[in-house]
Amino acid sequence: MNDTTHENDRPQAPAREQAAEGGAEERARSEVRAFLLEEMREEAVRDMEYVTDSRTFYEVKMKYLGRAGRVTALLKRLKDVVAEERPALGKKINDLRVKLEEGFAVVEERIRRQEMAHRLAEERVDVTMPGRRRRQGTLHPVTRVRDLLIDVFVGMGFEIFEGPEIETDYYNFTALNTPADHPARDMQDTFYLNDRLLLRTQTSAGQIRLMEKKKPPIKMLSPGRVFRSDDDATHSPMFHQMEGLVVDKGITLCDLQGMLDEFARVVFGKGSKTRLRPSYFPFTEPSVEVDVSCHACGGKGCALCKGTGWIEVLGAGMVNRRVLENCGVDPDEYTGFAFGMGIERIAMLKYGINNIKLLTENDVRFLEQFRD
Ligand code: DAH
Repeated sequence: MNDTTHENDRPQAPAREQAAEGGAEERARSEVRAFLLEEMREEAVRDMEYVTDSRTFYEVKMKYLGRAGRVTALLKRLKDVVAEERPALGKKINDLRVKLEEGFAVVEERIRRQEMAHRLAEERVDVTMPGRRRRQGTLHPVTRVRDLLIDVFVGMGFEIFEGPEIETDYYNFTALNTPADHPARDMQDTFYLNDRLLLRTQTSAGQIRLMEKKKPPIKMLSPGRVFRSDDDATHSPMFHQMEGLVVDKGITLCDLQGMLDEFARVVFGKGSKTRLRPSYFPFTEPSVEVDVSCHACGGKGCALCKGTGWIEVLGAGMVNRRVLENCGVDPDEYTGFAFGMGIERIAMLKYGINNIKLLTENDVRFLEQFRD
């Protein structure tokens, strides 16, 4: 029995010894591993405490759990461990991974809150603060008057026609009954570009261009810039004019005055009257200067109207037969009137502006005064 026992024990003895030795070793190894894993966990927890923003959060998380992270590296190396120890160790590492993931989730939430609070503080809008005012521009007085005139006359059935600013001598003078040797050419100091071309001195040139194209009845309004070599408090080398032309059967000077009365009321006020004084223009016969009763004093006489009660606002007249003929319109069949006014002049009178330069200086303190 003993023998048997002995016999039986003997070959087992070294195995048992081995097992006993192996168990101790294994335990030791396992303890070491557990210790190292705990160390790693503590280190990770310390690292987490130092995380202050999402960028460092990401870095720290990757250090442990990323593809090249320390915990991941441990899991990868599991295959090198003896098969029997693998499951237990695998579980331990996995537990560590789960713990760290939980820890990181808490940190992530903390960072998210912190950053949100920071952003809210930074982007805070105080709705009680006064807003930034946008400065609103105003229409230039010349634009305002031009638009007003267009409104008045378009309302009476006039059509807008715009001629070119660079004109030929023919349209600007000759066709308007002002041949080369005509003394009226001295009335205006012209900017010539060459023998034939010039900067138009008057929008009257548009009359010819339109009548060449269109047969009567005609009701034309022609606004535009004109140029003269002239420069003082009431003259500027460039200014704006508004030309009017009406051609039809049986048109008389009374039609002109009726329309101008309406114009005066809209531009200068309800009580305004007009009067016609004889004058001279080569392209009209008879020619008149049109005065409007002074809107500043109501006609009693003041500084603006120089005590006369009247202010000169425009030139006009019945279209000269020669002009109609130049355009192929039969003067025995048709008659017409024309008028022309300076828009700056009307604006200066209407708003009490005493120097034409104010209209081109673009000083906003001046321009701002023209608000509705
Ligand atoms: N063209 C003239 C000027 O510039 C103004 C003028 C006067 C136009 C009489 C007319 C008119 O149409 O009939 O001074």
